Amino acid sequence: MSRRPTDSSGISFTALYTGAVWHRHGLSDDTLATGKGRWLYRLMTPFEAVSKAAVGGNIRTFLLQRHLIIDHLIDRAITERGITQVLEIACGMSPRGIRLRHRHPLIHMVEADLPDMAGRKALRLLATNRLGDHHQVTPIDILADHGEYQLETVIDRVFDNTRPVIIITEGLTSYFSLATITDFWRRLSTAMARRPGSVYLSESYYQPSQPLLNTTLKALGSLLGAATRSQVSFHFQTDDQAREHFLSCGFTSATVHDPRSWYGVLPIPESRGEPMVRVIEASC
Ligand SMILES: C[S@@+](CC[C@H](N)C(=O)[O-])C[C@H]1O[C@@H](n2cnc3c(N)ncnc32)[C@H](O)[C@@H]1O
Repeated sequence: MSRRPTDSSGISFTALYTGAVWHRHGLSDDTLATGKGRWLYRLMTPFEAVSKAAVGGNIRTFLLQRHLIIDHLIDRAITERGITQVLEIACGMSPRGIRLRHRHPLIHMVEADLPDMAGRKALRLLATNRLGDHHQVTPIDILADHGEYQLETVIDRVFDNTRPVIIITEGLTSYFSLATITDFWRRLSTAMARRPGSVYLSESYYQPSQPLLNTTLKALGSLLGAATRSQVSFHFQTDDQAREHFLSCGFTSATVHDPRSWYGVLPIPESRGEPMVRVIEASC
């Protein structure tokens, strides 16, 4: 019998690595660079180099693909749909909030993470005078089904609930089994349906069809699962499966973005074969 997790704080340290990747690639700010992140970046470099040479892509490739495609889709939702409220769940040390507020000074940006990580982020943004009425950091726990950190409570509290919201989870959902994260997606679609026109952006990883790569990635997934005390999972194998699943969770539309459609359009690195990552854009 599988029990639903109630504490996923073991995942938090991975935000230091992704934070270092954003910083190394000129996407971040010195405020968000951490010593541990730099250390993890150096530790991972040989592995990343071997992986790039052997299979034509590595973790950094798909991190940059997902991050820049999500950024582009947020810009599009702001400029084409006129949405001005943005919630980034599991923000970690992501510089997205800073960059978005710089590009779109009129938006209301709320960054959210587990209480410890949210506290660390808030301190760093406060130190550089970035927080205020239109840029906030708040604690959230996507597993909470009651209390002040619950998804529904946070959204009600921080936004004008007569208007739509762009909600992002980047680097979060694959740490949970499909059953656990499906509960979250259903609750999210219900909350978004109360604010018609809202958009959800996230990413998903597919199991590679190449057997050697598949075995290697499964082993890596198990290692990461043990290190983060989580159930690292590949949820889907095809775009159709992913799309159907999001529709079954209550979203009224779902588009699956393959990084290959953005080669030459966005400044993203290219994978040698089929990219492992997809970006999901779902609306209510
Ligand atoms: C891989 S990091 C991604 C950070 C950031 N989005 C990025 O891409 O750089 C995963 C993040 O999920 C957060 N997290 C883990 N469990 C969570 C939960 N139950 N609710 C909200 N955030 C959670 C962690 O604290 C961590 O910041």
